[in-house]
Amino acid sequence: LESLNYRNDLAGETVLVTAGGTREPLDPVRFLGNRSSGKMGYALADAAARRGARVILVSAPTALRAPAGCELVPVVTTAEMRSAVLARLSETTMVIKAAAVADYRPHAEAEQKLKRSGPLTLELEPTNDILAEVVELRRPGMLIVGFAAETENVIVHGRDKLLRKGADAIVLNDVSREGIGFDSDRNAVTFLTRDKAIDLPEMPKRQLADRILEEMLALRRPTRV
Ligand code: CTP
Ligand code: CA
Repeated sequence: LESLNYRNDLAGETVLVTAGGTREPLDPVRFLGNRSSGKMGYALADAAARRGARVILVSAPTALRAPAGCELVPVVTTAEMRSAVLARLSETTMVIKAAAVADYRPHAEAEQKLKRSGPLTLELEPTNDILAEVVELRRPGMLIVGFAAETENVIVHGRDKLLRKGADAIVLNDVSREGIGFDSDRNAVTFLTRDKAIDLPEMPKRQLADRILEEMLALRRPTRV
């Protein structure tokens, strides 16, 4: 019955969500990764699908089950995530980049397991910035929202990122706060646009997902004078 109460306010939209943390292989048994659980991205995919959107969930490895009604595109590395995102961009009307993307990958992947023997120096090379490429390829009317996890000067870094990346909004996470964010079922964020910083206080990630979608829809509506 609850689902009947949902507004179908995303009907007609194709929402592409990236989630999880990409992994860059070092050797056959090891990778460089990060602490993303994928929970926020999966909550957004679920919320968007419930509101009537067609949802494409491009997901790096997580321990989560794909929400009902989403098309799951599993990926591992940043390069795979980039290909999957760019391949689906022409069908997409809203992009939500909740994934924690590995910024560097080992210059070479060892064919055999690296053996322990004294200090080890890894040579890393930068990965592509998927969000920046999406912004470059954006079609008229497309909404692009990025995520940023910061540990200090959160608003300053967030605003800088918003302008640098050219996204319509950045969902800012203060990951220095305890008990929320990484791996938690709750989170608190700031929805940052060019002219507004909207504080979304601590709440369950699934509820926060609906609030974020509402703020995204508000960006679509002409501003009242
Ligand atoms: N992002 C991306 N591709 C990358 C790195 C990041 O698409 N190679 C996206 C993330 O999915 C996120 C946004 O960019 O939506 C911001 O990520 P973040 O790591 O905060 O930005 P960076 O530019 O990598 O800055 P930092 O040096 O703080 O890591
Ligand atoms: Ca980064």
